[in-house]
Amino acid sequence: MTKRILIKNATVVNEGKSRLADVLIENDKIASIEDSISLKHPDTRVINADGLYLLPGMIDDQVHFREPGLTHKADIESESKAAVAGGITSFIEMPNTQPQAVTIDELEKKYSRAKEVSWANYSFMMGGTNDNLEEVLKVDPKTVAGLKLFLGSSTGNMLVDDEKVLEEIFTKTPLLISVHCEDENIIKENTKKYTEEYNGDIPIEKHPEIRSAEACYTSSSKAIALAKKTGARLHVFHVSTGAETKLFSNKLPLKDKKITAEVCIHHLWFTDKDYAEKGTKIKWNPAVKTKKDREQLWEALLDNRIDVIATDHAPHTLEEKNRTYLEAPSGGPLVQHALVALLEMYHKGKISLEKIVEKTAHNPSILFQIKDRGYIREGYKADLVLVDLNAPWTVKKENIFYKCGWSPFEGTTFKSRITHTMVNGDVVYEKFNFTQRGKVERLAFDR
Ligand code: DOR
Repeated sequence: MTKRILIKNATVVNEGKSRLADVLIENDKIASIEDSISLKHPDTRVINADGLYLLPGMIDDQVHFREPGLTHKADIESESKAAVAGGITSFIEMPNTQPQAVTIDELEKKYSRAKEVSWANYSFMMGGTNDNLEEVLKVDPKTVAGLKLFLGSSTGNMLVDDEKVLEEIFTKTPLLISVHCEDENIIKENTKKYTEEYNGDIPIEKHPEIRSAEACYTSSSKAIALAKKTGARLHVFHVSTGAETKLFSNKLPLKDKKITAEVCIHHLWFTDKDYAEKGTKIKWNPAVKTKKDREQLWEALLDNRIDVIATDHAPHTLEEKNRTYLEAPSGGPLVQHALVALLEMYHKGKISLEKIVEKTAHNPSILFQIKDRGYIREGYKADLVLVDLNAPWTVKKENIFYKCGWSPFEGTTFKSRITHTMVNGDVVYEKFNFTQRGKVERLAFDR
């Protein structure tokens, strides 16, 4: 039996335009988008979207869901639920789990687990190391989002620092290569210097001086030079400095770019002034930097040198985060609050709704060549989000869905709320409640 949902009278935000329309979903797909669609089948579920905005679900290209091995922090089920509550309908998860996803076998175990428990569509990245090139070369690019390389160490000890290996990977793999760029030697030197200066008790405010703009620029520019030399397809994750934005170009349409960039919510929202209040809760790698860096990130995002917005959702327990600067791990949970944070920036006049949709849904779809998702188009998968732009709520412990139970946004009031999230045509989150886990799919790639 065909399952039908008719969304009536939504402002549909898609492909640079917003217009009032009705959207009919049949089974897992968008069947039609018209000014007005009349009800033909009495068993159709009708959602009255008067005053609501319909967006394609966000495709988050960088999350850490911690499963397997680190499930005291988070797991695929808990975080994918938080993700759909936040309007994210597909995610790409990172390999720094335990064990690390550095063999096809480990990678496929993650896919199997997600198939059982995830609330959103999923893909997992293969991890590169100093010694797994042979395994990397076996990965079929049609089945996996890409290869992740840590060119600076972070949670999980996955540093790739053998330059010969790096060049070989860049030369030989047909996979999209995503990189974490921070120069290890600069970080090490800075850590040593500040540890001596502060006798081990470094204030969190020094984080962006230790994981410095120079460390980011040195590493990103090296990765980009190597990609240019080898012809590799490079995607630079979480650009955090103004200097790095100058390394990217907006001359080509995204589909033709060989070098692309991502910016994360925390680098668009926080600045180094926030360390005083938030402490290690906003300790991320790369670090949140200055107001000027944030402005330059916004500029590069809006002029299309930066292509996508993601979360780098990286939960740790509060107990872990409350340790001293050197002991507290980097990263924080974001998937539940990313889209509403962007909508807050829309309210502040920083970004249009159409641009939010471009950077969170259309562009990840183009960049990763994701099949049939990321747009509100007939024949595409019904991964959709309804938002109320005028329903203020405050982030509190009681309304946080992350397993770790905290958020760097606690106490923040957002004007907008997600009212419904649909994944493959199933309503999985509605009016601040989860309904039921629906159909979820492994992302497929048109490559
Ligand atoms: O802050 C971060 N945390 N940056 C990363 O690159 C890794 C992440 C994590 O996994 O905790």
